[in-house]
Amino acid sequence: MSQPPFHLRSLNAGVRLGLTFLCFVILGGYAASLRHLYLHDNKRDERPGLTVDDVKGVYHGIRSKSPILAALERGHPESLKQPERDGLIKWLTGKDVTKVFDDIDLGDKAPEAIIAANCRSCHAKTAKDPIGRTVPLETPDEVFKLAASRDISPNSVEIVTASTHVHALSLGSLGALLVLMAACTRWPRMLTGLLATACGAGLLADIGGWWLTRHHADFAYMVIAGGGAFAGSSVILLLLILADLWLPKRD
Ligand code: HEC
Repeated sequence: MSQPPFHLRSLNAGVRLGLTFLCFVILGGYAASLRHLYLHDNKRDERPGLTVDDVKGVYHGIRSKSPILAALERGHPESLKQPERDGLIKWLTGKDVTKVFDDIDLGDKAPEAIIAANCRSCHAKTAKDPIGRTVPLETPDEVFKLAASRDISPNSVEIVTASTHVHALSLGSLGALLVLMAACTRWPRMLTGLLATACGAGLLADIGGWWLTRHHADFAYMVIAGGGAFAGSSVILLLLILADLWLPKRD
């Protein structure tokens, strides 16, 4: 098998020290990106936690009806009388869903009272119906999670263009550098080759996926898989480079 034209390990100590510090800076950058991703995008789908819906929200937008509203409109539960059903529908399609929920002025027509009387016989953790454990409607938070209709706009084309311009050029160059440096280490060609492929394909899938997700929300999975592959392979490449720089020289 062909040997790389030169070995990172044969560089003088000053250069290797410089590369080492820069590798640590890049590792810190990855940690910051991860934190940024979490802080910036995790609320995008208006529900806590970073999920695929957040990615769909950023690049595709989300339009979804409140699950409670959908259930009421399809006639669920059959036992609910029309005035109560209309009251809940009015509440869910009106403003201030959280405020009106337990409005004392509404008395037993308040949504909270209607739900207590008509839903919790099944939708409670202690109810016989197993739905009570998967879809409880006991606390206000449990209700609000299913009460919100979502209409989330995706980032504008201008923002995604600006983000592509910054990320494609900087991460593309960074990835190329890592791949080239890793190719000049002692590690098996098979290993560095696989990581290099994951790194390049991952970034292409990630950034390409932003644009594809605009048209089809399911490409959000490609964004996540691509981003994960790029970040994961980059970190491993960095660690391999660091190890090669300082492990004893091999002939
Ligand atoms: C007789 C028991 C019973 C009562 C009473 C009942 N439900 Fe249900 N509910 C179920 C079952 C079982 C399901 C799952 C099957 C289905 O969707 O019909 C369900 C499903 C739902 C879902 C769909 C959850 C999802 O994942 O989208 C919502 C929302 C819901 N119920 C809201 C309500 C509300 C609001 C009330 C009161 C106005 C209510 N239910 C009263 C038994 C009940």
